[in-house]
Amino acid sequence: MLSRGDDKPPSRRMKRYWKIAVLANIKDESQPKPDSVPPDAFADFDHIETIDSIRAALETDGHQTCFLQADANLPYALKEVQPDICFNIAEGLGGDAREAQVPALLEMLRIPYTGSRVLTNGISLDKTLTKRIWRDRRLPVAPFQEFTIGDEPLRPELKFPLFVKPAREGTGMGVDTKAIVKNEKELRERALYIINTYQQPALVETFLPGREFTVGIMGRVDAKLYSRHPEWYEKDGFHRFPVLELDSSRSVTPNVYSQASKAKDVGEEGAPDYVCPADIDPELEKKLKHFALRAHQLLYALDVSRTDIRLDEEGNPRLMEINTLPGLTPDYSDLCLQAKAEGIRYEDLILEILYLGASRWGMVEPRDIQITNGRK
Ligand SMILES: Nc1ncnc2c1ncn2[C@@H]1O[C@H](COP(=O)(O)OP(=O)(O)O)[C@@H](O)[C@H]1O
Ligand SMILES: [Mg+2]
Repeated sequence: MLSRGDDKPPSRRMKRYWKIAVLANIKDESQPKPDSVPPDAFADFDHIETIDSIRAALETDGHQTCFLQADANLPYALKEVQPDICFNIAEGLGGDAREAQVPALLEMLRIPYTGSRVLTNGISLDKTLTKRIWRDRRLPVAPFQEFTIGDEPLRPELKFPLFVKPAREGTGMGVDTKAIVKNEKELRERALYIINTYQQPALVETFLPGREFTVGIMGRVDAKLYSRHPEWYEKDGFHRFPVLELDSSRSVTPNVYSQASKAKDVGEEGAPDYVCPADIDPELEKKLKHFALRAHQLLYALDVSRTDIRLDEEGNPRLMEINTLPGLTPDYSDLCLQAKAEGIRYEDLILEILYLGASRWGMVEPRDIQITNGRK
């Protein structure tokens, strides 16, 4: 997994200051939503303030930045701007692998970019495929079944209550307290609602009644060679952010980290309680971090990711999904809260994602340290 960006253009090598294009899909709340999309469509799109924060962070290190909307004009805008590298947080526009659209375009144009590549972003958006991969390598996931028509016979290992969600969305889209179904009738109704509204399969899982955590991972085996903060990384080259607990018990959607609860500001009435570091015993903490790292590695995620995990009725962790484009809104997004809890400044988090990405494209001079078997 070391150098997946080794097709670097020589002219970009070792320039100190870069022209960086931040690529994102921005919410345009002035425009009415078309009738054909679900009520919470575009919930995962970013606000322009987030882009401004990312740009400001990148500029603290002397780089020039601009914002490019990741829409159908992007190929032309890229030709015009000719960035040295793109800072990619684009969620993409429709289709079954929208988070892979921008990486695919950038690969075609041979423009370096940050974070995970096409294959990973395509698979990680699809929660069913992701869980099949994890299950194959013995990572713990709740029993699940994908419904594409809605009246498939329910497999016997799936016992009520069950949880029904869109297979390929994010940011709690299609998720509220009605996602918990207690009987056959509720299951069929909810599965059909998801299939029809979101125009995609419904993923049906055993309901996980326990506590909920999210675990951020940053780095890769050779991260210390390129990082401005080699001290952040453990011997294996990865940084585990402190575990964040999402306590939704007093949120607008009790016990479900829904789109409605995510839309609230931290600390606002109806928002979940964000507890970081989570108050958990060291054994559980170790397990959660181990699973998050394995989840990241098994999907070939690059540089940064966040994995959502809940405890089942016996208190055992079960992986729900991985976010390979984790939100980066300061003082709001889970990963930013995790970084802040251990004293990592927002600017440093953003610059770290930049330099880890850039180093895969040969744009950063490696530090002069010995690496043997991935260990310093
Ligand atoms: N099997 C499940 N059991 C209980 N709650 C679930 C389950 N799957 C998802 N949830 C709840 O729904 C939320 C959103 O689901 P998740 O799979 O993380 O999708 P996304 O964050 O991409 O919308 C979770 O944070 C959790 O609160
Ligand atoms: Mg999630």
